[in-house]
Parts: sequence; C-alpha cells; structure tokens
Amino acid sequence: MIVDIKQKTKFSVQSIQQSIRVNFNYEVYFTNNILNLKNPTLAQAIAADDEKKPKKVVALVDAGLLEFWPDLLWQLTNYTKFYAEVLTLAVEPMLVPGGEAAKNEPKLLEKIHQLIETAGLCRHSYVLGIGGGAVLDLVGYAAATAHRGVRLIRIPTTVLAQNDSGIGVKNGINAFGKKNFLGTFAPPYAVINDSAFLTTLCDRDWRSGIAEAVKVALIKDTNFFDFIHHHTTDLAQRDMDSMQQMIYHCAQLHLEHIATSGDPFEMGSSRPLDFGHWAAHKLEQLTDYKLRHGEAVAIGIALDTTYSYLLKMLSHSEWQLILKTLVELGFKLYVPEITKQSSPENLPCLFQGLNEFREHLGGELTLTLLQKIGKGIEIHEVDLSLYKQAISLLRESEKQQQMLVTINRGER
Ligand SMILES: NC(=O)c1ccc[n+]([C@@H]2O[C@H](COP(=O)([O-])OP(=O)(O)OC[C@H]3O[C@@H](n4cnc5c(N)ncnc54)[C@H](O)[C@@H]3O)[C@@H](O)[C@H]2O)c1
Ligand SMILES: [Zn+2]
Repeated sequence: MIVDIKQKTKFSVQSIQQSIRVNFNYEVYFTNNILNLKNPTLAQAIAADDEKKPKKVVALVDAGLLEFWPDLLWQLTNYTKFYAEVLTLAVEPMLVPGGEAAKNEPKLLEKIHQLIETAGLCRHSYVLGIGGGAVLDLVGYAAATAHRGVRLIRIPTTVLAQNDSGIGVKNGINAFGKKNFLGTFAPPYAVINDSAFLTTLCDRDWRSGIAEAVKVALIKDTNFFDFIHHHTTDLAQRDMDSMQQMIYHCAQLHLEHIATSGDPFEMGSSRPLDFGHWAAHKLEQLTDYKLRHGEAVAIGIALDTTYSYLLKMLSHSEWQLILKTLVELGFKLYVPEITKQSSPENLPCLFQGLNEFREHLGGELTLTLLQKIGKGIEIHEVDLSLYKQAISLLRESEKQQQMLVTINRGER
C-alpha cells in the first residue's frame, strides 16, 4: 500500500531539488614485476596527473608478502628514487598484518590515519596499498576517510584481490561481529595487477579467488563458466596462463557490472555480484575466519545452487555440473559450522546471515539464485525448511562429487 503523506495534513513543505552527477574514471593495469625499474606502470599511473611536482606517497604493505618477497621494501624505495621526478615516499612504508586480522583490529585503522597525518599527505597525494583483499579493504577505508578521501592506488597480490575485491569501488573493516560493517564506496585512483605476485600464493589463496569467477560466470556468462569448467585441472594445478585469462575476464565482468548496472554504489537492494555471499559472510564469522572468503563463497554458491535446484528453477544436470566444477577446482562444499544450531530458535545460526545480509543491503531481502548457468534471478522470500533440505542434500552431494573426482583422478 502506498501512503499519500501529503493528504494527512495541510502543511506545505518547502524544498530545493539538488541533483549531482559525478564521473569516476580509473585504469586497471595488468603487468608483471611492477617494481622492476624498467617497468614504468606505477610511475605512469601517477604521472597521468597534470601537476608537475613529485607526488607524496605513503605505502602500506601486507606483512604476509615479505616472507616471499623479502626485497619488496628495498625495491619500492629504489623504484621511488629512480622515478623521483614523479613520486617520493613521504615516510617509511608501514607493514600491515595480512589476512582477515587486518579487518578485525580497529587500532590498525588509527595507525594508518596517523601515518597519513604524520606524512603530511594532502588530497592530491597517494596512498599505495600492496597486498591481499583484506589489507586493501582496510587501507582503502583509511584512505577514503583521511581528509575525506586521499587518492588510492591498489596493487592487489592475491587472485581474489586481482579479479574482484581490489578492482571495485568498496572498502571496509569488520565491527560488532559483522563483516564489512564499517566502510565506504570510494573508487580507487588506479589499480595495478601484477601477475608475478601470484607465484608465491599458497594453494588455498591461489584457489580461493577462483570462487568469485565461478560466481560471476554463473550469474552472467555461460561461455565463461564453460571456460572455467574446461580448465579446472589447469587452474587447480597452477597453470599461470589459464589463471591470467580467468583473472582478466572475471575483472572485466565485475568492472562492466559496476559501470553499467546503474547502481555502482549499491543504493538499491539488488546485488547480483553477491550471489552466494549471504551464507559466505556468515560462515566466515561462524568459523572464526578460518575459512578464506573465497572458500566460504564456494560453499555459499553450492548452497544457493542446491536451493535453486530444489525450487525447480535449475535443472538437475546443471546443478550437478556446478558442484562438480567446484569440487574439481579443489573446493570443499560443506563445513560442520553450516548446521551449528542457535538456541532458542533451534535453527542453524547460518540463517541469521539472511537478516544480516538484508540489513547490510537495506530495503527488502533480495537474494540472487540461478535460473540456469549464466543467468541469475532475484527472489525476495525464502523457505527456511527448504533451505534446511538444501543443506542436507548438499552434504550428501558433496560426498558423492568428492568420491567421483578422486576416482577420475586415479584413472587419469
Ligand atoms: N571490497 C570488496 O569489494 C571485496 C570483495 C570481495 C572480497 N573482499 C574481501 O577480501 C578479503 C579476502 O581477500 P583475499 O582472498 O585476497 O585474502 P587475504 O587478504 O585474507 O590474504 C590471504 C593471505 O595471503 C597473504 N598474501 C597476500 N598476497 C600474497 C602473495 N602474493 N604471496 C603469498 N602470500 C600472500 C596474506 O598475507 C594473507 O595471509 C576478505 O576480507 C573479503 O571480505 C572485498
Ligand atoms: Zn566475495
């Protein structure tokens, strides 16, 4: 029912209609060995600015990288000296603990703000974030809130950060036990994806980001899903060429969606790129962040795919093909926390994730499910008893798929 408020009283309201249009443009570069002195990508990204003076830069680096890239800080300093006419490091780079810890420790935010203040950065200076999605989310939030927004250059170093989290317009940290409770929409100044970083990822982080590619393929692009499905072995066995193709196309689909969906800052309730994410975010929290974001997304996709099948939206063969693809990529599709009960409701705690998801989006509950591979569909109501069935069915189906994949591998 639409309420006509004007009819209720005779009070006349005076107003001025304000309308603002803002265009954001940023480049997402793909390169190799970004800090090699012969590679001008980073200097070029900064020199694109018309002001001629060298720009002040503050660098925040994922501490997890240093174990594998011990010369990284030295290389960064060397690079800024070589391109001194373009950029200058205003202070020593700061190390930020890698992984979800970066988003769970509020003091880190303050430390980064303090560093930006000490370095005397202005809104035309640059914050350089080098690391995985978690560090970039924290650094992005700090950069967006210091002086109401300092220019941010992201250098994502994981698959997930290069194909999804690091190229988009969001940042955030966790608070009050909720994922990304604090954060802003703030497009970066530039993003530079360096494939060399991918070589040192552990198998879990190599695989984790592939879940976001499966997600976007399932809701938007059948051919891309076919590509992933035909390259599961290459991807699982760390074939760099397949990985780079996958990252490029996944990034392209995410960027296209942000640019053309008509809702880049998610003012409405629809969020197709969050397919599988209501359960993923809750599972990350229920497992004390032992599950990587991408690993949780793979389970969320499997669950919502199974629910789509039970709703008779998705065919049996497509449902099975999706589970098979995820298992062949090496994902687990079930963790015990998925059925952890919450007293007194006697329902899985997981289902609280539905309300938290709705709250985070605002407006009415909107979930994306699958109509077929390559086509998502939005729904606004859920049947919890059918979701419970989906959980049990997923448990059984995952066991079968894991067995089949093991047999197939043995036969090869
Ligand atoms: N802002 C967004 O739009 C958005 C979208 C999706 C996900 N996310 C967020 O991204 C985060 C997950 O990011 P992630 O998957 O990149 O994991 P991550 O940032 O948690 O990093 C995982 C681990 O890899 C290490 N690492 C990083 N680069 C490395 C390298 N090149 N070699 C070796 N180790 C390396 C890190 O130190 C860390 O220990 C989650 O917090 C998730 O919520 C944000
Ligand atoms: Zn995600």
